[in-house]
Amino acid sequence: MNLTDYIKDIPDFPKAGIVFKDISPLLANAAATDKAIELLAMGLHNFQATKVVGIESRGFLLGILLAQHLKLGFVPVRKPGKLPGEIISQNYQLEYGEDALEIQANSIQPGDLVIIHDDVLATGGTAEAACKLVEKCGGVVVQCNFLMELDFLEGRTKIEKYQLHSLIHY
Ligand code: PRP
Ligand code: MG
Repeated sequence: MNLTDYIKDIPDFPKAGIVFKDISPLLANAAATDKAIELLAMGLHNFQATKVVGIESRGFLLGILLAQHLKLGFVPVRKPGKLPGEIISQNYQLEYGEDALEIQANSIQPGDLVIIHDDVLATGGTAEAACKLVEKCGGVVVQCNFLMELDFLEGRTKIEKYQLHSLIHY
């Protein structure tokens, strides 16, 4: 099975000139989704992770399945204003402007060994912000993994100090 067969190019979405990589066909196919989780798990090295962090919203989809597969708890990193209780925030740069991500302060304990998952590594700003959030909580990022990496955007340069693993490179 080739996972790329389940990722559809959508030209000019969400705006003109951008080719969106739609993972809906993959999610709609149980065997393809299973394969993606198996390959993400196989890409982990010999460390004992304690948590999987998924990034809102598309990072939740495979992130929680990966956490269950590894029998680890799942922690959401969310867009601002969504999480209750004590929150830690991290700003990051967008192409135009700035955004932020948040995590619940007590969701990661000092010493937690964390896998960060998202669907796509593009410019790297999102993943870098998630790594910083984990570290602000006292956690250690042991790997960042992605279903897809857009190599030409060189996002990995922002998170090169972490172990990286992407199943598909474009
Ligand atoms: C997309 C994608 C990654 C992020 C990658 O999310 O799902 O999370 O962009 O971009 P970057 O590497 O340039 O930071 P988006 O913010 O579009 O939101 P969504 O997951 O809710 O669709
Ligand atoms: Mg996203």
